[in-house]
Amino acid sequence: MRYAAINPLDWKLVEGEYRLLMKSKPPAGVGCEFSGTVEALGSGVAAPAIGTAVVGYIDPSARPPGALQQFVVASAREVQTVDAADLEAACTLPVAGISALQMCRLAEVKSGQRVLVHGAAGGVGSFAVQVAKMLGGRVTATSSRANQAVLEALGVEARIDYTTQKVATWGGPFNAVLDCSSTLGAADIGTLLSSGGHYVRTLPAMPSLLLDPLLNALRPVKKHTLRLKANADDLRTLLAWLRRGRIRPLITQRFAFADAVAALELSKSGREHGKLVVQVA
Ligand SMILES: NC(=O)c1ccc[n+]([C@@H]2O[C@H](COP(=O)([O-])OP(=O)(O)OC[C@H]3O[C@@H](n4cnc5c(N)ncnc54)[C@H](OP(=O)(O)O)[C@@H]3O)[C@@H](O)[C@H]2O)c1
Repeated sequence: MRYAAINPLDWKLVEGEYRLLMKSKPPAGVGCEFSGTVEALGSGVAAPAIGTAVVGYIDPSARPPGALQQFVVASAREVQTVDAADLEAACTLPVAGISALQMCRLAEVKSGQRVLVHGAAGGVGSFAVQVAKMLGGRVTATSSRANQAVLEALGVEARIDYTTQKVATWGGPFNAVLDCSSTLGAADIGTLLSSGGHYVRTLPAMPSLLLDPLLNALRPVKKHTLRLKANADDLRTLLAWLRRGRIRPLITQRFAFADAVAALELSKSGREHGKLVVQVA
């Protein structure tokens, strides 16, 4: 193991959230995404060869997590090869990067469309801006006042301070609203979306989680909840974009392995935005 990235999901699993959906029953290992080099191979496994740099994802709905350790046992299907120089950046892709890509897919983001990314200075949000732009979207982004410089660096068309600007002034209607903080209400969504537009949130909420798939056929706007799915093709796409310099993770803090608990606490506090990366070795 070289690096593990921390996500809000990690401390939520530690605290026993999503027990019914996940295989993580505390006490359990911590951490879902990692990068490092192959140390040994199981019998009958030919690739990736020992010494290959890889990035991987432990799907906590399939097996208990545990990326925060010196060695991780992973199946060959769970890892992708990566340039050794990209090991740190790559460990941020399996959760936040793939979430952004799958949000854009749910929202059917296409070239020329107007896209709003809400919570764009976060790990998922900063990737969502970059992926939407890669797909040809024209992106407006929101953050608190403190993170407006992050939005400027991401190169968005328009920046919104969600703490002071009313939703009606955010520049809608948009074809897609990617709500990375899951804080927009039904009235906001009505104000922001054009007819036929898509709204995607990252956190499940009842009853919309159950009702949206049924109601979408009858509605002028379509609402979706992201449920991140491990996907090797998506990870390979993101790794190719990373290699070509088309996307870049927003790493805001780095931690030594001994300080991994502080990384989890900081993620939970909500005081930091962007990717927190633990250097394991
Ligand atoms: N469903 C899934 O499969 C899935 C997958 C990945 C992530 N998620 C969830 O998605 C969320 C975001 O993850 P992340 O890794 O991007 O977290 P993060 O890096 O901590 O970012 C959270 C962002 O939310 C923004 N924010 C906080 N309060 C807000 C508010 N009231 N209105 C608008 N924005 C607000 C913050 O922006 P400011 O600092 O500028 O306020 C921050 O940039 C988490 O809840 C995570 O659990 C779900």
